[in-house]
Amino acid sequence: MLQDKTVLLIISGGIAAYKSLELIRLLRKEGANVRPILTNGGAQFITPLSVASLAEHEVYTDLWSLKDETEMGHIRLSREADLVVIAPASADLMAKMAQGIANDLASTCLAANNKPVLIAPAMNQEMWANPANQDNLETLRNRGYMICGPADGEMACGETGTGRMMEATHILADIKSFFAYQKALSGKRVIVTSGPTYEPIDPVRFIGNRSSGKQGFAIAQALMQAGAEVHLISGPVSVKPPKCTTFTSVETAIQMAEAVENALPADIFISVAAVSDWRAETQSSQKIKKDGSQKMQLKLAENPDILRSVATHAQKRPTLVIGFAAETQNAVENAQAKRTKKACDWILANDVTENNFGGDNNHIHFITSDNSISDWGQMGKKDIAQRLVGAIIEFCKKGESKHDTSTAENRIAK
Ligand code: C5P
Repeated sequence: MLQDKTVLLIISGGIAAYKSLELIRLLRKEGANVRPILTNGGAQFITPLSVASLAEHEVYTDLWSLKDETEMGHIRLSREADLVVIAPASADLMAKMAQGIANDLASTCLAANNKPVLIAPAMNQEMWANPANQDNLETLRNRGYMICGPADGEMACGETGTGRMMEATHILADIKSFFAYQKALSGKRVIVTSGPTYEPIDPVRFIGNRSSGKQGFAIAQALMQAGAEVHLISGPVSVKPPKCTTFTSVETAIQMAEAVENALPADIFISVAAVSDWRAETQSSQKIKKDGSQKMQLKLAENPDILRSVATHAQKRPTLVIGFAAETQNAVENAQAKRTKKACDWILANDVTENNFGGDNNHIHFITSDNSISDWGQMGKKDIAQRLVGAIIEFCKKGESKHDTSTAENRIAK
């Protein structure tokens, strides 16, 4: 299952290092190549010899070992790996990673790393709960690092709580599902729209909304991790976009509609953007001044409905078209009606009265083509992205043949 995969395994200081020996054994049994790095702390608990014997490969310990560094060993180790696993990950190493500190072989490799990273933390429960550690964890999670555990239970120090490293079998299962997930959407082209649109009134004013772009970016990132080819089209936001196959920055709904049309064809279209329904009918070339009448009338023109035009596209309708519906009342009923009106397959209804629009959480009701509803409850935007991508993977596995292949027109008629 893991044949031709190379895992760079970093073993940092902690009594849980003994479990890493079992992890190496399991990885080798699955056919993976293991390139082990043992930190000074790790070497206090297990010996380089036992690591090397199980890995059937030399152990790297020293940044300044001449042989490795004349070859730029710390760069090579990352480039040759398919996945970096840190088990156990100490609080110290997590802090270094979060801050970009590079002062030994493990942290230098991680600072220069361009491969996915899976972390299995292990530490005393107070260290785990320490706000500094939790902040570092959040930073790493936000950068896309995968976190495995820790588990609850008795610590080596005799105290009880959260901080035990996950068992080797569990870490192996996460490694295997990472590799399976990584290819799950390979070959699929996905267009994602995200963020607000800004509709200019005059050179200084615009009609906009509070969309932060976080949900669309999280979805684009999860799709990239699943191996899809992602074209992300974003309105103006302050959050940095994730690395995607193609990124297009737009400002207005008309620009977004054009960018989407140019990006077609695609297998999947996900319309996360909070597109302004209206734009100023005319834009003043100069800043509009008060005229003393104490009233100002702004004439609005309706913007194109991008989701609907993609879902009803005569030649290039993607197989799966997904919309979002931010609602302030009757979220589910309104979203069901919207799904039919927009002719999309799935819709994610988001009750924005429960969370600030633009915040970090959403409460999603997931509505599919048969109008069935699944309440996902309150979730973080990254978790929502993972869950949606999971549903897309399931959809793709079932195959397009089983999907409703009726024409766009028929879909609207339903
Ligand atoms: O009608 P409403 O704006 O609530 O619909 C929400 C869904 O429609 C979202 O998926 C949004 O991205 C999409 N939409 C669009 N073009 C518009 C308005 C909304 O694609 N002009």
